[in-house]
Amino acid sequence: MIGRSGAASDVRPDGARAWWKEAVIYEIYPRSFKDQNGDGIGDIPGIIDKLPYIRDLGADTIWLAPIFQSPNRDNGYDISDYKAIMPEFGTMSDFDRLMARASALGIRIILDLVVNHTSDQHPWFQKSRASKDSPYRDYYIWRDSAHGHPPNNWPSAWGGSAWTFEQSAGSSYLHLFSRYQPDLNWDNPAVREEVFSIMKFWLDKGVSGFRMDAITMISKMPSFRDMSPEELKAPEYVYAAGPHLHDYLREMNDRVLSHYDVMTVGEAYGMRAQDIPLFTDSARRELDMVFAFDIVHVDRQGWRKVAWPLSKLKEIYAAAGRPSSPDSWNTVFLDNHDQPRAVSRFGNDTPPFREASAKAIATMLLTQCGTPFIYQGEELGMTNLPFDGLDDFEDVQVPIEWDAKVKRQGVDPEAFFESLKGLGRDNARSPMQWDTTRNAGFTTAHKPWYRVNPNYTEINAQDCLQKPDSVYHHFRDLIAVRRKYPALVHGAYQDLDPNHSAVFFYSRQLDKSKVLVLINMSDRGFTYESPLLATASLVISNMKHHGVAKGVTWLEPWEARVYAA
Ligand code: GLC
Ligand code: CA
Repeated sequence: MIGRSGAASDVRPDGARAWWKEAVIYEIYPRSFKDQNGDGIGDIPGIIDKLPYIRDLGADTIWLAPIFQSPNRDNGYDISDYKAIMPEFGTMSDFDRLMARASALGIRIILDLVVNHTSDQHPWFQKSRASKDSPYRDYYIWRDSAHGHPPNNWPSAWGGSAWTFEQSAGSSYLHLFSRYQPDLNWDNPAVREEVFSIMKFWLDKGVSGFRMDAITMISKMPSFRDMSPEELKAPEYVYAAGPHLHDYLREMNDRVLSHYDVMTVGEAYGMRAQDIPLFTDSARRELDMVFAFDIVHVDRQGWRKVAWPLSKLKEIYAAAGRPSSPDSWNTVFLDNHDQPRAVSRFGNDTPPFREASAKAIATMLLTQCGTPFIYQGEELGMTNLPFDGLDDFEDVQVPIEWDAKVKRQGVDPEAFFESLKGLGRDNARSPMQWDTTRNAGFTTAHKPWYRVNPNYTEINAQDCLQKPDSVYHHFRDLIAVRRKYPALVHGAYQDLDPNHSAVFFYSRQLDKSKVLVLINMSDRGFTYESPLLATASLVISNMKHHGVAKGVTWLEPWEARVYAA
């Protein structure tokens, strides 16, 4: 049993060995995980059913994407009541049952805190838009402008203006995402109090922390001046440069977080790698970890999907492996609900490489520096979806981006669609593939809320659980290896062959314990030589081992091995 966090204690054991540094975290997108009542939508009782599956995998912490009341314009990332469960997902008593069952299995739960913005259906916004005299007016960011023109040239994260004019309100409100997601005004102390109260509400129910959505964007540039053409190329860096961001995070830590033994991970959209310790250096008392975007952006330039050399990935991991502050901690992730499937972008999802490459990149995920995050289905090697046309997309972002890029900026529709297929967020959001029955066993409803990937007859949990050499079992074994070798959690990182174009070879070392990781990140086989291999002993590998003679070995395509040196 995991003890309740309890508001009373003022001590946070965030020393060198805090639990969240050793955790392996599994993200659930509840809508697509498991439908228990047969309405086509995943729900909390479905999650409860599958807790043993997650425990058997070896993950010890679950991050739940938003489960709160929401009109679902952005699938829960538009919240209309922060203290109520979305009825489609169940009731508060279902949630309490989930907490109790998870705790009994030794699993912690963290929630998604989405407080850069609310839904436009939130009562605060309803009152804010209704009258200039409402005490809720300043909960949001309103600006007057002539003829309802946008008050400045700021774009939303997905394209188009970040402002929407409200006839009834007589002014425009700011939304850095869709118009259904008005931004909260964090400069108003009453807003911050509301957020702290929401956080305490859930922490007092025993949740073990938060993933903080778009948290770098909460402090706005006070002048609201136009952005320069240069700034407009990457507006997220301007949004993340608000003058009070760190003040607000510190206040949140003082007022709430420091009173509980919990973890936080912030979505660091628009943050440069070198600025990350400003959030995560424990002496600064802000956040514990952040998600940096460098890795999941290697294959994109703006909307365009581009080829990437392995050297780029190596550089990013090497930089993350030598943080400018020793008291700062990383995350490692290749997949989440906003990203295409990892095997389809970092591996090779076509036969005969899918399984080997899914295991190879899993090896990377679980041996790099930082707390690893696995996204539902990644442990099965689930792949991207097939898309035939724009209608196959469900994501609110797609029509907004299409409008901005294709209709207004004249981007070639074919090229845009091609990139969208590879990069679109819907790739991650199709239902979890449980078995070979209709709808992949996700729901008994005639139609699930979103398409099941037709490859579920081949790729599904039931099949993976039956086969000892499946992707699932490799994940499970890698997690066990990670727990056995503290060097993989706490060890120093060294890239042992930074210039090789196909082999990723690195070490993690803690005191005298050294672990070597050798991965062929390509579709080719070849011989590889390193004197380090001559004396190392194999810990785990994703295929039948070819053996090493005098430091020389043959590597199959996507072969991945971990050695104790
Ligand atoms: C974050 C979420 C994403 C959401 C956006 C707006 O990036 O991960 O899913 O659409 O914030 O809340
Ligand atoms: Ca349901």
